[in-house]
Amino acid sequence: MMKQKTATTIAIANQKGGVGKTTTALSLAAGLAERNYSVLLIDADPQGSLTLSCGITEPDEIEFSLANVMTEIVKDNDFEITKGIVPTDEDFDLMPGNVLLSGIEVELVNTMQRERILDYYVEMQRSRYDYIIIDCTPSLGMLTINALAAADGVLIPTQANYLSVKGLELLMGTISKIKRRINRKLEIEGILLTMVDSRTKLARSVSEIVRSSYGEHIRIYTTEIPVSIKAAETAMQGKSIYRHSKSSKIAKAYQAFTDEFIESEV
Ligand SMILES: Nc1ncnc2c1ncn2[C@@H]1O[C@H](COP(=O)(O)OP(=O)(O)O)[C@@H](O)[C@H]1O
Ligand SMILES: [Mg+2]
Repeated sequence: MMKQKTATTIAIANQKGGVGKTTTALSLAAGLAERNYSVLLIDADPQGSLTLSCGITEPDEIEFSLANVMTEIVKDNDFEITKGIVPTDEDFDLMPGNVLLSGIEVELVNTMQRERILDYYVEMQRSRYDYIIIDCTPSLGMLTINALAAADGVLIPTQANYLSVKGLELLMGTISKIKRRINRKLEIEGILLTMVDSRTKLARSVSEIVRSSYGEHIRIYTTEIPVSIKAAETAMQGKSIYRHSKSSKIAKAYQAFTDEFIESEV
């Protein structure tokens, strides 16, 4: 019999929007796939921006997406394990997300074990992948709680500015609450500084503040993702930064981050 894979599940979370969660989720998935790991990327954001970035132009038209998965689980209905999963030409699989997810938060209110619906799905998929990566929505609502309940680790992208770093305290509080009450195995994988403009003194000092205030207990990745216009361009093209501009600074930074991420795993 073949050895069963048991995927490491990573939630990419920050309640602040526009900090690079989706860009990081896609780049990490594509980077891991390039290194021959099998990856399932899950879009748990009603905005569907990850789904769009993967080249699906009308996320809201998809017949069976994450919201449908969650509804079937809530209703205790069986469904085919691969149902709705989209293979991408960058060799990872996508479970798309769309606007229907915004209804899920409401639907879950009266559901038993409502924090564990996504966890149930992740458990179904664990034996099929090396990594499952969940792109979270910018809030600390039920969808993000579901992602954190399902994850082994949480990866936190943050912009290198004072307010963004200040906002991390709230997220850390939520993570430790979930660790205590719902998911004991949850660990913080690390903080990734994104959109860093290393030419400015401000970015440099914020990066130093993050390292000195959190670095003792939490891994701050050595790799920092530079600010780059290429990131915005690639999102519109429906492919990863590696396909869009392989030799750009940001592509190289995400490659270095992928290697650092893998090294930190072992
Ligand atoms: N390193 C970067 N430099 C410049 N723009 C970026 C960078 N990373 C992401 N972006 C852009 O910033 C916006 C927000 O990024 P995104 O990854 O969608 O963040 P989030 O998922 O946290 O909301 C997007 O338009 C994206 O293309
Ligand atoms: Mg996003």
